[in-house]
Amino acid sequence: MKPTTVTHLRQWKQEQRKFASLTAYDASFAKLFEEQGVKVLLVGDSLGMTLQGHDSTLPVTVADVAYHTRAVRRGAPACLLLADLPFMSYATPQLACTNAAELMQAGANMVKLEGGSWLCETVKMLTERAVPVCGHLGLTPQSVNVFGGYKVQGRDELAAKQLLEDAQNLELAGIQVLVLECVPTELARKVTEALTIPVIGIGAGNVTDGQILVMHDAFGITGGHTPKFAKNFLAQSGDIRSAVQQYIQDVEQGIYPAEEHSFN
Ligand code: KIV
Repeated sequence: MKPTTVTHLRQWKQEQRKFASLTAYDASFAKLFEEQGVKVLLVGDSLGMTLQGHDSTLPVTVADVAYHTRAVRRGAPACLLLADLPFMSYATPQLACTNAAELMQAGANMVKLEGGSWLCETVKMLTERAVPVCGHLGLTPQSVNVFGGYKVQGRDELAAKQLLEDAQNLELAGIQVLVLECVPTELARKVTEALTIPVIGIGAGNVTDGQILVMHDAFGITGGHTPKFAKNFLAQSGDIRSAVQQYIQDVEQGIYPAEEHSFN
């Protein structure tokens, strides 16, 4: 299978061809996802909640993400693989370089970090040193204690303006992909149209170039609280392979996320 690269993602954006991505944390699921046609996988620090049982992503370490990145890479050699730089692992540009190196050497194609324009220097430093970077704006879970909970972001005019400005600054600094989490659909549309790089949404409506779901949310294993944007594809499909195919198809056709999974 031909490896997916960021060039493909850019091309799909130009062609207005939507793509589906998932988080993955182990070789078996990664293999299954790749076999069903998922082209982009993320070893998210959501593993702190989905795998480790914490109530936030904050306890996750670089070693944790590297461990799961190695496993996912073995299972899905052709996927474009993103790995999260966890909480405080990119507090300075130098720290970001050291920790990004560990994730790239574990098999990631790109690292993801959460935050706005304050990260521009870090993004520039990483990209100059051959580490592709994905930004993450909106509800950035590592900032849960600043937000006072997992809340939709960019709802008022000022916050929306700031988010758009952050997205543009990060693109200028060199990010190659942006994840946009839990923002109103209209704001997601503005950001997606304003950027030339692919924007991947989660809880950002069906207007972004791609979608991502935490794999547990796609299979209805949400441990009590189900986010509004989540959909249990396993419930309607009956088996995991069909569920993944249904997810891909629904994203590609703009059926998922529907109005009921979006914020206005
Ligand atoms: O950690 C993660 O799984 C993520 C996704 C929610 C995008 O960052």
